[in-house]
Amino acid sequence: MKIFIDTASVKAIKEAACLGLIDGVTTNPTLMAKEARNPEQVLKEICALVSGPVSAEVVSLESAGMVNEAHELVKLAKNIVVKIPLIKEGLKAVKILSAEGVKTNVTLCFSSTQALLAAKAGATYISPFIGRLDDIAHEGINLISDIKKIYANYNFNTQIIVASVRNPVHVAKAALIGADIATIPYLVIEQLIKHPLTDSGISRFLEDYKKIPQVNNAK
Ligand code: G3P
Repeated sequence: MKIFIDTASVKAIKEAACLGLIDGVTTNPTLMAKEARNPEQVLKEICALVSGPVSAEVVSLESAGMVNEAHELVKLAKNIVVKIPLIKEGLKAVKILSAEGVKTNVTLCFSSTQALLAAKAGATYISPFIGRLDDIAHEGINLISDIKKIYANYNFNTQIIVASVRNPVHVAKAALIGADIATIPYLVIEQLIKHPLTDSGISRFLEDYKKIPQVNNAK
């Protein structure tokens, strides 16, 4: 499973990139707002750091506006993927952009039928938001297995990005299902690395090592 980082923070992306984990980046208007900087500048900086796909979201609600924004966004860097909301106008825009060869990430997907329509429109990626479904007492992760099955039934190439990931269990379940990609906030990436038994194991090894007389005498 590929790992994308879900952030617009250049600092977080730099730190995660050092770990050799980052296959791509997803941003959205909320994440951009947290940076409080010019979004185009932020995207340019991110694209210079990461060779994989970087999703940048449009804010228009009409297909023509979305397509215009997409044309501007792809000028920023060659790895830009245009993020489009899953509404009727969004599907129209995806159809146009996919015919032009512009890569799209259809976002705010909450049902398997929405995901089916996005694939039919030619989406490169679909982003089902599992945490937000959990928030309203639905098993968000079930949506991922449903979409995976539907896409396999009809040989769609649209890749599933598990989004709105809130914890390591989401990541583990996404990988068990065989999702193509999980886009993960930096804090959750850190949680994936840590295990209390790893930490206590290191402490014990170091304590035991200090007890070797030859090690102490050598000092
Ligand atoms: O990738 C989508 C993500 O940014 C939304 O996450 O936690 O706001 O539902 P969240």
